[in-house]
Amino acid sequence: MGKNQSLIALVLVLFSTTLIAAPGWWADDDGDMVIADFESADYGDWTVTGSAFGRGPARGTLPDQMEVTGFEGEGLVNSFFGRDASTGTLTSPPFVIERAFINFLIGGGCHPAQACINLEIGGEIVRTATGPNRSPGGTERLRACAWDVAEFRGQAATIEIVDSATGGWGHINIDRIVQSNRIEGTLVTTGFPFPTEETLYEGIYRPQFHFTAKKNWLNDPNGLVFYEGEYHMFFQHNPEGINWGNMTWGHAISRDLVHWTELSPAIWPDELGTIFSGSAVVDWTNSAGFQTSDEKTLVAIYTSAGEPYCQSIASSNDRGRTWITYHRNPVLGHIAGRNRDPKVVWHAPTGRWIMALYLDKASFALFASPNLKTWTHLCDLELPGSSECPDFFELPVDGDETVRKWVFWAANGNYLIGTFDGVTFSAESDLLRSEWGRNCYAAQTWSNIPKSDGRRVQIAWMARGEYPGMPFNQQMSFPRVLTLRTTPEGVRLFREPVEEIEALHRTTHSWNDMKLEPGNNLLTDLSGDLFHIRVEVELKKAAEFRMEVNGQRIEYSLGEKKLTCLGCDAPLEPHAGRITVEILTDRTSIEVFGNKGRVSLSSCFLPDASDLPLGFYASGGALRVVSLDVHELSSIWSGARGDQ
Ligand code: FRU
Repeated sequence: MGKNQSLIALVLVLFSTTLIAAPGWWADDDGDMVIADFESADYGDWTVTGSAFGRGPARGTLPDQMEVTGFEGEGLVNSFFGRDASTGTLTSPPFVIERAFINFLIGGGCHPAQACINLEIGGEIVRTATGPNRSPGGTERLRACAWDVAEFRGQAATIEIVDSATGGWGHINIDRIVQSNRIEGTLVTTGFPFPTEETLYEGIYRPQFHFTAKKNWLNDPNGLVFYEGEYHMFFQHNPEGINWGNMTWGHAISRDLVHWTELSPAIWPDELGTIFSGSAVVDWTNSAGFQTSDEKTLVAIYTSAGEPYCQSIASSNDRGRTWITYHRNPVLGHIAGRNRDPKVVWHAPTGRWIMALYLDKASFALFASPNLKTWTHLCDLELPGSSECPDFFELPVDGDETVRKWVFWAANGNYLIGTFDGVTFSAESDLLRSEWGRNCYAAQTWSNIPKSDGRRVQIAWMARGEYPGMPFNQQMSFPRVLTLRTTPEGVRLFREPVEEIEALHRTTHSWNDMKLEPGNNLLTDLSGDLFHIRVEVELKKAAEFRMEVNGQRIEYSLGEKKLTCLGCDAPLEPHAGRITVEILTDRTSIEVFGNKGRVSLSSCFLPDASDLPLGFYASGGALRVVSLDVHELSSIWSGARGDQ
């Protein structure tokens, strides 16, 4: 603890007042300035109230506390004196903000305003942060965090550490508070004050490489179309609220399927109703006659969810930036129940557009049109137990372009494989299942991906995840590539994350040809929440292996031949004694792909803590890790800003 801190602060105030008029004066000397390191026996000139902070800094872990780690030196602020029930405050003397960041180490409970560290200027809290833990379990590990305080340079401030929380995790741990021009750790704005445009994507439950709307509700991906280097993703969106309602097409674009820019909503509710799910195409031949310049027209086909439901279209002649609804909507009137979710594809052999539509009550239909404006009924399909959001596309089998099959897909991820002659879809498979997790719904594939790329790429709504206190609600999955491959059971649809994930790889940790004995953790010393993991395991005598990521478990049992994640199971047979697993973990979701996408489990969770350790264990015998790559991932949001 710096003993002469008040004096230094006073000198700094005088110094800065005289120099503040000279622009850039502070940039000449950018050495770090330690505000407090809590190494002394007492708190020096900081003011203590209550009993939670004791008489001076703790020397590490306190009685009855889980082991506290991640602090520097011997001492730290630990408000577990008197356990969780005790309360108090610890306030610094005033100091002048002279650097762009205040870096600090923080741990303990996640109780905004009750167990937190605050930066106060002129009697107002301008920055705040909490520890990561909300429920039993968790970790007493401190992690590096930072506030961006550049805008307050030259102003006098105080730091107040507060503990008025008395229940579980009712304490806060702080160490080493430093002013610096270099950011160390995660930039925090945990819930309060309400995030600004710059800090919007940093909330503790904000996915870091999965798309979320800046604000408010989203559900199904809609209108997925690639045009002029941009992947468009429209989505069911409530621009007015955090829950479902006012359905409007939100809009985001990406050049790499990884980094997204959210644009203004594209299609707003009108006299025919709110705008439910649908698809979009590039009208290359100007079949609808909407084209006004050399720019090709994008046409969106969606459900007008008024009374009754019907299907409408809208067009854009400026690369999706503005949309005009067709003055003769609807283009397909009411058929049955709440018929909805048109997905349109181009069928080259017959030179027509084909629409897959959900009719209601597990029944679907196909329609055809020469111009997107007039539609004729082709055939009906039943998919027992499945409803909503159909997709319909053709893929080569095993990459052989001479053997192609059509896939008819429903919102729950169940699908049929068959043939399509331009009029009738004939199923050649039973109803098959692609998804085994608990939060994957209403997936759709992009239209118009160039032949040179040739991929069929899909994205899903990770339905029903929870994001308490966040300005947004719901997230998308990571995009996946779909392929048809022959298996001993017949042709099946495989789904794997798009390779563009590699753009986010930061540091990679690799193991090859290693024996793992039961009880040993192969991944000691690794922690965090954003990972891409690929592992191939040979299960010799080992009956099981287990991975721990973000405090959640992914397991494979050879006895039961099943892959489990967050309590959901998928059947998975080893190939030549080997299992491969690919995992994407974000702050609130885990996507697991078994045996190169033969099964997938996509699930959301609410983390109890962040920055948890990774684990990889064998049980029931040693196993051989043929290869294991753990890629730490960057966030996609750094630098993400408003409309374009
Ligand atoms: C699927 C769904 C669609 C509908 C949309 C409304 O999640 O119910 O059938 O078009 O959501 O938001």
